[in-house]
Amino acid sequence: VSASNISRLVASAERCLLPLDQATTLPPPLFNDPEWFEVERTRVFHSGWVAAARSAELAQPNQFVTATIAGEPIVIVRTANGRLEALSNVCRHRSATIVGERSGSARSLQCPYHQWTYSLDGRLRAAPNMDQASGFDKAKVCLPRFAVDEWHGWVLVNVDSSAAPMSEAAPHLDLLFTEHRMAEVVSVGTLNYPSPWNWKISVENFLESYHHRGVHRETLEPMYPGAQSFITPTGEEPWTAVDHVSVVEGDEPFIALAMYPSLLIAITRGVGMAWFRLDPLEVDRSHLAIEVFLLPEYANDDALGDLIVEGLRVINDEDVPINERTAKGLRSNYAESGRVSHLEEATWHFRQWLIARMSD
Ligand code: FES
Ligand SMILES: [Fe+2]
Repeated sequence: VSASNISRLVASAERCLLPLDQATTLPPPLFNDPEWFEVERTRVFHSGWVAAARSAELAQPNQFVTATIAGEPIVIVRTANGRLEALSNVCRHRSATIVGERSGSARSLQCPYHQWTYSLDGRLRAAPNMDQASGFDKAKVCLPRFAVDEWHGWVLVNVDSSAAPMSEAAPHLDLLFTEHRMAEVVSVGTLNYPSPWNWKISVENFLESYHHRGVHRETLEPMYPGAQSFITPTGEEPWTAVDHVSVVEGDEPFIALAMYPSLLIAITRGVGMAWFRLDPLEVDRSHLAIEVFLLPEYANDDALGDLIVEGLRVINDEDVPINERTAKGLRSNYAESGRVSHLEEATWHFRQWLIARMSD
């Protein structure tokens, strides 16, 4: 990666940092440049807390969950004594990924290739037919370990373990998650969307309701008119939230919230939330899993769960084609930064954070 290329791209984004009424959108190369994406992996995703699972998936000893963090394969395990470990899911032999399933239960982690076997704290326990490898000492082989924390029902991983604990990074978000009982919600269904476009297209789409008038004209706009949404001031904290008040009597307000870089949540007051689990895979490809959660008092209400899952399917099916069109347009030689509506304040906030991270 050429440092001068990154500095040049950071400089090209300086007008994103102007006050909202003068600011522009991100320059198109920031969505397309493979070197920019490589640096995002390190400075954005591998130097802070990223939500990888829910605590409920790791409630029992020996349970494991796999995830990737901007392409980095990890496996999170609950050890026999109840501690969480986040380990590299890459075999120390010839680098195959060790665990393939999204989740399960195991007493040890065995690589399927040549059956090197690791304990749940990452130590190599068995390595067949290695007795003639001179000086090979399996006691010296261990999977790299990452920082891991539990916070309001999420399991977060920090590839760079030097960051402060999550709760200190965002005290106001801590209060908001307590108010909305985020630690208690129960999973009732998941939608999966392979997303062949840059991850920031999904974040920006998630964080503004200006597009309700175009994309969700017949679905969200009549209930939650984009022009009536407003942003929660978060100051220097690494998150933003857009509040939507329903104009339909009896409908609950919802909040679209992003903790940067990629924890996207839609909270419906008094009902539950949807976690948009976004994982950037490559510069032009990410994966979005939308997991739906209800407060425990509704967790057995299958009709409500189905209604919310289906509603999210309809809305997201409307967002997919517009994200594809944005990705296509961003690759044009004639694409350039545009101006920003006041209804896009949250995306503007996100861009400030992103550019600050990339300027380090
Ligand atoms: S790559 Fe894992 S045992 Fe060979
Ligand atoms: Fe949308």
